[in-house]
Amino acid sequence: METATTLDQIRARLKDWRAAGERIGLVPTMGALHPGHMSLVDGCRAAAGKVVVSLFINPRQFGPNEDLDAYPRDVESDAAQLDAAGVDLLYAPTLDQVYPEGFATTISPKGPAEGLEDDHRPGFFDGVATVVTKLFLQTGADVATFGEKDYQQLIVVKRFVRDLDVPIEIVAMPTIREEDGLACSSRNAYLDTAQRRIAPRLWQTLSTAAQTIRTTDTPDAIVADAKRDLEACFDEVEYVAWRDGETLMPNPANDRPSRLLAAVRLGTTRLIDNVAVAPGKV
Ligand code: PAJ
Repeated sequence: METATTLDQIRARLKDWRAAGERIGLVPTMGALHPGHMSLVDGCRAAAGKVVVSLFINPRQFGPNEDLDAYPRDVESDAAQLDAAGVDLLYAPTLDQVYPEGFATTISPKGPAEGLEDDHRPGFFDGVATVVTKLFLQTGADVATFGEKDYQQLIVVKRFVRDLDVPIEIVAMPTIREEDGLACSSRNAYLDTAQRRIAPRLWQTLSTAAQTIRTTDTPDAIVADAKRDLEACFDEVEYVAWRDGETLMPNPANDRPSRLLAAVRLGTTRLIDNVAVAPGKV
């Protein structure tokens, strides 16, 4: 596997591939790779002839009281996993390659970027949209894979790609989970043994609610029950919400796919998850 750390290097390498007619796939990550990331690599491999994985811990998507300094970093192990998975190029830009001195531009998504995560992490989607746009432009990739684990992020990326006519295809990949249902996440490393035992309740509670929400005339009560169940296990429940699967608008129509999404805190660790809700019977 090749490695690039500067914009010039990656542009030169990808220019050769493009000249050879290769379709180029990109998997944007912040490293501390786990099976969820690796499934995105597999999805990208299926969609493109050359696979680039970016590894960049983006300071602009962390709030002042968030875990930027503590965020897990293990570049050697990440590189070994990517090499073993047959990734063609690891792009690990230094800070100045993404944010040169005097950097003064922000992509500020609205619509599906409002509410949910944005209520609790103001500025998060500005940071994500800005860095993802830069990674798309720096690589000129034809296709990129994103995980449903970060469902609002996936929808926001799809929307700004459409709104700004960015010439890239976004492929969504399903959430990879541990055996007990906990979604794989770099932040799971923060959980102690007792917290790790509680954490799967997030997925279990959402899954149970998702099975009944279309069978009742009172979906709000199902969401309220789920919130109460989560409050019994977790230190804080930031939100539980039932939203349209494409627009993230409240009150999903009966004939449309939808999602139940939640964010909770266990000690200082923040966990998010979501599950699909099938359309109701017409
Ligand atoms: P990161 O948290 O490293 O996640 C990188 C990609 O992996 C995202 O598309 C995320 O949705 C996906 N992912 C994480 N856990 C997953 C799981 N359990 N199953 C499937 N996919 C999973 O998300 C980011 O980084 C950043 O915001 C980024 C997009 C790289 C911009 O900085």
